[in-house]
Amino acid sequence: MELSLTVNGQPAVVDVPPGTTLLEVLRDELGLTGTKEVCDEGECGACTVIVDGRPLDACIYAAHAADRAEVLTVEGLAAGDELTDLQRAFVEAGSVQCGFCTPGFLVMATHLLETAAELSEEQVRRGLAGNLCRCTGYAQIVDAVLAVGRGA
Ligand code: FES
Ligand code: FES
Repeated sequence: MELSLTVNGQPAVVDVPPGTTLLEVLRDELGLTGTKEVCDEGECGACTVIVDGRPLDACIYAAHAADRAEVLTVEGLAAGDELTDLQRAFVEAGSVQCGFCTPGFLVMATHLLETAAELSEEQVRRGLAGNLCRCTGYAQIVDAVLAVGRGA
């Protein structure tokens, strides 16, 4: 099954068997290993990517559904080596510990910041409810997102 998609602004063509997930395309075919595979069941959000403007769990998203789609992964957030404001805020707030959840949080929180005019703490927590972190207790992650939302 040949698929054409745009990933982080770059055209990509892959040939994968039916049943392949978008996560497998990203990691195994395109070498974009920033998107993490943790639960593989759509429960933890570690594999969050944006497809045609919509956040979703790549581990349970059929690759064929992404044919001709625009996909944004964690690798596409920053321009070159320059961290985004949110990535810098994560570092400064101590939001990264083991780091396995971090790509998914960054993608989801970037989407939240881009799609909401203003974000309260409750909106941030609700928006990130599908992303699980075993290490931080969430406070540092929420603080980082709020800091960027406030323009701090
Ligand atoms: S790895 Fe996809 S939701 Fe957990
Ligand atoms: S930093 Fe370890 S799971 Fe979130």
